[in-house]
Amino acid sequence: MPNIIEKIYGKTILQFIKAAPYKVDIAVILGSGLGDFARVLNPDFSIAVTDLADYPASTVSGHSGMIHFVNFEGLKILLFQGRVHFYEGYSINQCVLPVELSAQCGAREIVITNAAGGINVNYAPGDIMLASGYNAFHIKKDLAPIVGAGTFENRSNLTSLSEFYIYKAVKEAAKISGIQLKEGVYFFSKGPSYETPSEIRYMRNFGGDAVGMSSVHEAIYAIHRGMKPVLISCITNLASGILNQKLDHSEVIETAYFAKTKFEMLLKNTFKNVASQN
Ligand code: HPA
Repeated sequence: MPNIIEKIYGKTILQFIKAAPYKVDIAVILGSGLGDFARVLNPDFSIAVTDLADYPASTVSGHSGMIHFVNFEGLKILLFQGRVHFYEGYSINQCVLPVELSAQCGAREIVITNAAGGINVNYAPGDIMLASGYNAFHIKKDLAPIVGAGTFENRSNLTSLSEFYIYKAVKEAAKISGIQLKEGVYFFSKGPSYETPSEIRYMRNFGGDAVGMSSVHEAIYAIHRGMKPVLISCITNLASGILNQKLDHSEVIETAYFAKTKFEMLLKNTFKNVASQN
């Protein structure tokens, strides 16, 4: 029986699968300001999301709507350059469509990247954090219809991140690349605005190390669809109230841009590790 996303996006999925030049091993979602990586990888084939029926297009700068197929040293990669968010007014169904397309295309693993604010005072802009866990209590209700988490047999393990091989592959890649990777808890914030200083204090008290407005629902849906996700955050700013200055999106894009060499090296070495396991 088709799942709810297949039912809603049947036409989009069919069109996408028809256009896809090959099945892939791994998928990657590139977050705010990290999209340039697509060009570096020299894609074999690209699709503009505006050419796909019913595909939601992002309204945010730093999120170009392209989907690429890449062959990186034999590893077949499906690369989403940009995503849509809850804070743009999109539904959970629209937000997880790239993950469904990844599953349809055969991806077994998915690298989910994002820009995030550092809550942990030992983090600095430009740091890269691998999420060992997440907190997204307030979107569990939104997720229930798509993962069927309300039914006992489907209440599988939708929480572990650090146990997957791909997590170790990223850590190993950081070592090879000489990157001091942070490991911490990603706290989901629905937006649309950045957090208040008091919300950040709340998150810190409840174990948050970084905060962002994406990724968690993608990871949970990926696990539900049988894929192994990994969440990587580029810390683009210190979260609200940590410094005595206002946050703005251009700062996020700028820092992501400066951290991009490190980030690209980390992803390339991760792909090499995954390819050697295939
Ligand atoms: N908060 C939420 N999302 C973000 C931030 C932040 O400080 N920085 C980048 N994305």
